[in-house]
Amino acid sequence: MSDRAAAARILAPSDALTVETVRAVRHWNDHLFSFTITRPSSFRFRSGEFVMIGLPGERRPLLRAYSIASPAWAEELELLSIKVPDGPLTAQLQRIEPGDQLFLGRKPTGTLVADALLPGRRLFLLSTGTGLAPFMSLVRDPDIYERFNQIVLVHSVRQVSDLAYRTELESHLAGDPLVQDQALLQLSYLPTVTRERFRTTGRIDALIEDGTLFGPPLRGPKAFDPEIDRVMMCGSMTMIRSLAARFESSGFAEGSNAAPGQYVIERAFVG
Ligand SMILES: Cc1cc2nc3c(=O)[nH]c(=O)nc-3n(C[C@H](O)[C@H](O)[C@H](O)COP(=O)(O)OP(=O)(O)OC[C@H]3O[C@@H](n4cnc5c(N)ncnc54)[C@H](O)[C@@H]3O)c2cc1C
Ligand SMILES: NC(=O)c1ccc[n+]([C@@H]2O[C@H](COP(=O)([O-])OP(=O)(O)OC[C@H]3O[C@@H](n4cnc5c(N)ncnc54)[C@H](OP(=O)(O)O)[C@@H]3O)[C@@H](O)[C@H]2O)c1
Repeated sequence: MSDRAAAARILAPSDALTVETVRAVRHWNDHLFSFTITRPSSFRFRSGEFVMIGLPGERRPLLRAYSIASPAWAEELELLSIKVPDGPLTAQLQRIEPGDQLFLGRKPTGTLVADALLPGRRLFLLSTGTGLAPFMSLVRDPDIYERFNQIVLVHSVRQVSDLAYRTELESHLAGDPLVQDQALLQLSYLPTVTRERFRTTGRIDALIEDGTLFGPPLRGPKAFDPEIDRVMMCGSMTMIRSLAARFESSGFAEGSNAAPGQYVIERAFVG
């Protein structure tokens, strides 16, 4: 029996963790994959939240924060993950297969939730890399289309193969029984690839500057307006910091679960 198989045998739930089974794994490229796991009936979360995921460690479970990429109503939980070659968790996690077990935290949390934003008309979801994950949850939840007229999902990555879920997003989530009608009319997807040839190649700040972010099919002003626009950001900390400063100076206030505002942020990783 392999070390991993031996470890899998001794997974046991605790007060903080349940033990779940991997259902499916999808490898996007050499440094990105997504997978689905069983969802315990007791597990409640709001679309956009994150949770701890892990595998057995030397003395205690090896856990990391993961945004949930599936919407709150879904039967299974979906996660989108980086593969860090020497990463304590993802060096192992990238080898999971259907039937394997892993730990799931019992307490999801997070600020990328609709409740942390004031009502508005246009919602901008700005992501880099795996920062896309919480927005895949939100755009597959009918609730977000009730709250906002137009939703723009921006995904900035280094190379074309990093555009996870590109086919689904380019089709406006066609085939999704709960949101396909609203997504067709209300969701626009703006992928940008910064280190390979692609139709859009600017970083998100450049797309704001040159107006690409506000291009068709988006209607309304060609700049951010704190009266009608709401923003969520997830990804690289440097991107979040510089854009947050831009929003603060344009009259946007950061929101939280306790005090909703015009924008909210969450880093996609520490480091
Ligand atoms: C709130 C929150 C939500 C997160 N959600 C996700 C998620 O949905 N998907 C995901 O893959 N990771 C996510 N992460 C990062 C995740 O917790 C781990 O860092 C990641 O799984 C790597 O774990 P590791 O043990 O292999 O390496 P670590 O020791 O945790 O990381 C090693 C180094 O790899 C880099 N790194 C780690 N994660 C990423 C990443 N996602 N993108 C780019 N560089 C990274 C950093 O430079 C880090 O210092 C999230 C982190 C936080 C704080
Ligand atoms: N994705 C890959 O192809 C790749 C390959 C091998 C290894 N890795 C490893 O994986 C880790 C994460 O890579 P990643 O591609 O997910 O994340 P990343 O380096 O943060 O890049 C993701 C996207 O964010 C953009 N970005 C980065 N900083 C920004 C800022 N301050 N403002 C605006 N946009 C910004 C990048 O543009 P720029 O391209 O202009 O920086 C890119 O489009 C890296 O540390 C790397 O070691 C990644």
